[in-house]
Amino acid sequence: MGPIKAFRLALIQLAVGEDKLENVKEALRFIKRAKENGSHVIALPECFNSPYGTKFFPKYAEQIPSGQTSIALSEAAEENQVYLVAGSIPEKDGEKLYNTCTIWNPSGELVTKHQKVHLFDIDIPGGIRFKESETLTAGKKLTIFNTDICKIGIGICYDLRFDEMARLYRKEGCDLLLYPGAFNMTTGPLHWELLQRARAVDNQVFVASVAPAQDKNADYVSWGHSQVVDPWGKVIAKTEFDEAIVYADIDLKVVDDVRQQIPVFGQRRTDLYDTVRRD
Ligand SMILES: *[C@@H]1O[C@H](CO)[C@@H](O)[C@H](O)[C@H]1NC(C)=O
Ligand SMILES: *[C@@H]1O[C@H](CO)[C@@H](O)[C@H](O)[C@H]1NC(C)=O
Repeated sequence: MGPIKAFRLALIQLAVGEDKLENVKEALRFIKRAKENGSHVIALPECFNSPYGTKFFPKYAEQIPSGQTSIALSEAAEENQVYLVAGSIPEKDGEKLYNTCTIWNPSGELVTKHQKVHLFDIDIPGGIRFKESETLTAGKKLTIFNTDICKIGIGICYDLRFDEMARLYRKEGCDLLLYPGAFNMTTGPLHWELLQRARAVDNQVFVASVAPAQDKNADYVSWGHSQVVDPWGKVIAKTEFDEAIVYADIDLKVVDDVRQQIPVFGQRRTDLYDTVRRD
């Protein structure tokens, strides 16, 4: 028998409210449920312990790994014997705040963390204004971690729009890219699935996204629609707006098949791309 090449992934589309402790408790309940249904890797949404919005970040921020959310996550990963990709929380590090995803192994150890690299800054005159960079600092590194079965690359929300980042993860040997995120009601329907299918097809990897459930009364209304795309670009599991767990059985043989049948990475013409040619 060869090495195990498949595992069950669970995405927890959590309903997030203003009570931090309740948000964390709800996450723990769902982690337990996902484990009971055989999940090996469990992911939470972006900003799962706090409402999404720059005005909330300073108040909800915690240190990692000494804060109460980190402590609860570490215990949950160990108790349930799972890899936990803990969406994101506002992180306080000295005077700075980050939008940070923590990753825990089945021993309850912090494997690594991803601080959102591309901050979401938008200011349309007469329209929406949202500037993460007014409160947050951008992360300075890409984040890859190893489970016992595959390498996973992490991005947070807006990071999904940057194809170079996904390309780098593929080059570093990732088979799955995981993006906690929360698109809104304009960009969600237009871009959320499209971007994930694009990242998946271009790089021949699985791509999963996990968003908070929709709350129509929130300052920022999430599109929800947590989903998993396979390396063919096919959506293999998804949900809509409400609180839910999305399960997908990730079969890494599919990655090998696609890469063998459509060997684009071996056929790249870097001799052309690296020079601009004008005839
Ligand atoms: C367990 O996961 C499978 C998919 O892998 C899903 O079809 C089923 O509904 C889940 N069961 C429960 C109780 O959620
Ligand atoms: C969502 O964000 C986009 C920019 O990313 C903006 O153009 C749009 O107006 C926003 N939509 C809503 C409903 O807030």
